[in-house]
This record gives sequence, structure tokens and C-alpha cells, in this order.
Amino acid sequence: MQKSERVNFGSKIGAVLAAAGSAVGLGNIWRFPYETGNHGGAAFILVYLACVLMLGMPIMIAEFTVGRHSKASTGRAYKVLAPGTHWKWLGYLGVLAGFLILGYYSVVAGWTLEYILEAGVNDGIEKSSKVLMPVLFILIVVLVGCSLSLPNAEKGLEFLLKPDFSKVNGDVFLGAMGQAFFSLSLGMGCLSTYASYFGKETKLGNTALSVGVIDTFVAVLAGLIIFPAAFSVGIQPDAGPSLIFITLPNVFQQAFSGVPILAYIFSVMFYVLLALAALTSTISLHEVVTAFLHEEFNLTRGRAARLVTFGCIIIGVISSLSLGVMQKYTLFDKGFFDLLDFVTAKIMLPLGGLLVCIFVGWYLKRSVSYEELTNGGKLKAGLFNLYIFLLRYVAPVAIILIFINELGLI
Ligand code: PHE
Repeated sequence: MQKSERVNFGSKIGAVLAAAGSAVGLGNIWRFPYETGNHGGAAFILVYLACVLMLGMPIMIAEFTVGRHSKASTGRAYKVLAPGTHWKWLGYLGVLAGFLILGYYSVVAGWTLEYILEAGVNDGIEKSSKVLMPVLFILIVVLVGCSLSLPNAEKGLEFLLKPDFSKVNGDVFLGAMGQAFFSLSLGMGCLSTYASYFGKETKLGNTALSVGVIDTFVAVLAGLIIFPAAFSVGIQPDAGPSLIFITLPNVFQQAFSGVPILAYIFSVMFYVLLALAALTSTISLHEVVTAFLHEEFNLTRGRAARLVTFGCIIIGVISSLSLGVMQKYTLFDKGFFDLLDFVTAKIMLPLGGLLVCIFVGWYLKRSVSYEELTNGGKLKAGLFNLYIFLLRYVAPVAIILIFINELGLI
């Protein structure tokens, strides 16, 4: 695509909304609680927060830099910035990760739809996410209130807020790192593709911070809904991927036991909005793969999009069946669904992130990073040195250590 053809996000808030739309999704409301539950609660959350700050923030700015500077989607960005080198493989890795995530993400999104249909609603789902995201947010806050008012809620709160450091091991680090990449949509060129549409006034540092704060906030609130309720009704916090789907119906029923119609309204609204949050994330995943096929293989966008959807249906069907009739087929003790989740979130995304650190921190000229972070010298560059330090040393070393530890080498 020609530089001049690229349209930009209309306003500054548009850039934040688009990136936040990609980041906030099932990762926050479905995956974060179940990973937290599997890894012992509060201590996991502390490690997670450290990962968001020390890995997530610098890598997000680095991806923004790659996208806006190259003005190209991730499949081509590295060819533009590092022509004739092997860096293009970093772009391809992201496209593959995006495709695989899309495959099982849509299965969970499908479960959400099933809950909406069960509640008896078929249409009216289409509304702009700009309006509905704030509604989702308000609803989440209401549900936190409901959940906290259930009997024995304080046990869940304790699980979420009182760290037990004896539970911290290598798996906790790998889990928290993977969750940070997944939830922030990092490590696969998704946000870098979005950044190729950022205007030149968009402040990369501020945008990254806003997305990080919004995303983390939604995840913690989701935890505040799920765990008090789970402990209250006796559901184990380590129930796995089905955790929110077995906990939430109980919250609705118990909190509104006096007024069943309210339970009905709230549950329908919640699942509709969750589906929408999932939709904006799905679109961002879909876009990365579609743009790649469109640009690389000269397919029309429509054809490329259909091809991606078709491939995603096949992966989706297999991963869905792997939780049912195909349960007995496993690899490394994991079914297809779990395997996809593990390989993408815990291996491919952190690996992509590591390579982005090396690319922007060491390969790209420092002046490019400076120019992008300060919008050509117009903004103060107070934290520039800290950013470069995190990108060059802290983030890559941390990712490598976590990988090595998991392999049992240290
Ligand atoms: N961040 C999204 C979520 O939390 C999932 C996602 C991952 C989207 C990677 C794009 C890229 O639901």
C-alpha cells in the first residue's frame, strides 16, 4: 500500500480506543481470572503487574514505533525498516501467532454467544463499540458490587489481594508473562499494525500508558467479580477455562434472587457486551492475517478475509472438539485447545516480544526511536533513557530468564 493511501485514525482518542479495543477482550475477563486461579491468586497478580510495567509498556511503545515508522502492517513492516534481512520472519511469526490465536479465541467467543442465545436474545447485538464499551465498564462495576455482597465474599477477596509468596515458581512467571502479552495484544504485530494508522500527533508513550492502565483495570475488576462469587458458591478457583462460565450464572442468580427479571436483564447485557469486547479483539487479530494475505499474495481484501475466516473455522472446530469428543487426543499431555493457548501465549508472543526488543533496542537507529517517541522533537523526552534501558536490557533479559527457567536449565 502507498504511504499516501493510508488513512489515519481521526482523533487522538481514536488511536487509544482502537488499541484498547484490541487489548480489552476475553483475555481480561476470561483468561486473566482463570490464569490467576490456576496460579494461586494475589502473588500471581503482583508478578503480572511487574510484567505489564517492565515488559508490556516498553514493548508496546516499540511496536508503535515499528508500525508508525514503517507505515506498514506487520507482515511488511520489517521489510520496510530492514530490507533484505531475516527480520521479515519476525513479521511472519506474528501473523502465524495471530492466526492460531484467532482459531481458539473464536471458540470462547462462541461460548459467549451461546450464553446470550440461552437467555433468549437473537438480535440487536450490533451497536458501535464506542458507545457500548463504557456501558460494559459500568456493568462490570455493578457486578463487582453484587459479587462482593455475596456471603463469604471475603474469602475470594483474600485470595485476590493477600499474596502467598510460597506459591511463586517458574510457572507463575511464565504464566504472568504470557498473560501480559496476550492481554495487551503484544508480541504479534497487532498493535504495530494499528500504529501504522496513527497520526503524527499521536503520543506513543501516553497511548501505551492509557492502554496499559485500561486493560489492567478491566482485568482486576473481572477478578473482583469472579473470585468472591466463586468462593461464595464453592467453585474451585483453578477450574480452568470454564471458570467464568460456571461462576457468573451463579452471581446473577444469587445476587438478584428476589427479582429474577433483573438477573435476566443483567446477564443478557453482560454477555452481549462481553461478546462485543471479544469482537473488537477478534477484528484486530483477523486484520493482521488478512492484511498479510492481501499484501503478500495479491489477493483482494475480501478474498483474503474469507480465507482467514475459513481457516479459523477449521482450527476452531478442532479446538472445540478437543474439549469434547476428541478429548483423548493429546500432545505433551495437552488437548488441541490447551496446546494452542500454551504455544501462542506462552511461547510465540513472548518470543515475538523478545525479538521486537532486540530489533528496536539494538538494530534500529536510536534516532528513529527518539523521533517517534517525541514526535520529531516536539515532546519532552524525560523518560526516553529509561525506555531504551528497559527495551535493551531489562525486558529481553527477563524474557530469556523466564524461558530458560521453564526449560529447567536454571
Ligand atoms: N488482547 C486480546 C484480549 O485480551 C486478545 C488478543 C491477543 C488480541 C493478541 C490481539 C492480539 O482479549
